[in-house]
Amino acid sequence: MSIVEKIDKERLPQHVAVIMDGNGRWAKKKGLMRVVGHERGSKSVNNIVEASAKLGIPYLTLYAFSTENWNRPETEVSTLMKLLVKTLKKEIKTLTENNIRLNAIGCLADLPERVRNELLEVMEITKNNSHMVLTLALSYGSREELISAIKAISDKVKNNIISVNDIDESIINKHLYTQILPDVDLLIRTSGEHRISNFLLWQIAYAELYFTKTLWPDFKKNDFYEALINYQKRERRFGKTSEQLS
Ligand code: IPE
Ligand code: IPE
Ligand code: MG
Repeated sequence: MSIVEKIDKERLPQHVAVIMDGNGRWAKKKGLMRVVGHERGSKSVNNIVEASAKLGIPYLTLYAFSTENWNRPETEVSTLMKLLVKTLKKEIKTLTENNIRLNAIGCLADLPERVRNELLEVMEITKNNSHMVLTLALSYGSREELISAIKAISDKVKNNIISVNDIDESIINKHLYTQILPDVDLLIRTSGEHRISNFLLWQIAYAELYFTKTLWPDFKKNDFYEALINYQKRERRFGKTSEQLS
């Protein structure tokens, strides 16, 4: 039995989010420049996007650049931005062939114009695709997202569009970048770090967390299948007792 056959296709997570970490360390280990690690990392992106679409996972969200990543050396930031444009151009084929819609979350206004334009173009080209939603988190920070949501909701209260008592989970969801996405079911982080790094804090409230030491450029389809199998072995209780579930 191959590893992919061990996955129960009826019980796939609906939304998988990935913190793609470890490109720099992967390169350093091989005596290469960090940017080579990022280039190799984009191959892993392609692999995982394809694997998700083939399996039928409806939502895949990838953390590509955080609000905190702006603090990296300028040359690394600009190389990452160039790589992003290159990757987007290359991905159009995969997105089209697999009927995938591209979506983005984050403060897109902070991105260089050429990146934003390329992103918007690919989003426009793929907007009617319906098999899977691939969301890229770019200049994304969960606290920034929550602050904007709180501001927007406050504004509506101030202008009597909604009342304070109307504020519930669904109102908050509607004001987040992730409004079209369901809650995260499975969060994967590569590279051995056990932290969330300001990613989807609200949306992962009941996600299953999966950490692997594998560095992102080494993360292959089989590693992804491994994560899904591990996820399927868990009992998601959502506060109930095990007995209540069975
Ligand atoms: C993840 O790899 C990619 C981004 C954050 C853009 P890193 O660049 O963080 O790699 P490490 O953590 O330094 O190994
Ligand atoms: C998180 O990785 C952000 C992305 C993967 C884009 P980092 O490498 O920036 O995270 P920290 O700083 O080590 O927590
Ligand atoms: Mg890192």
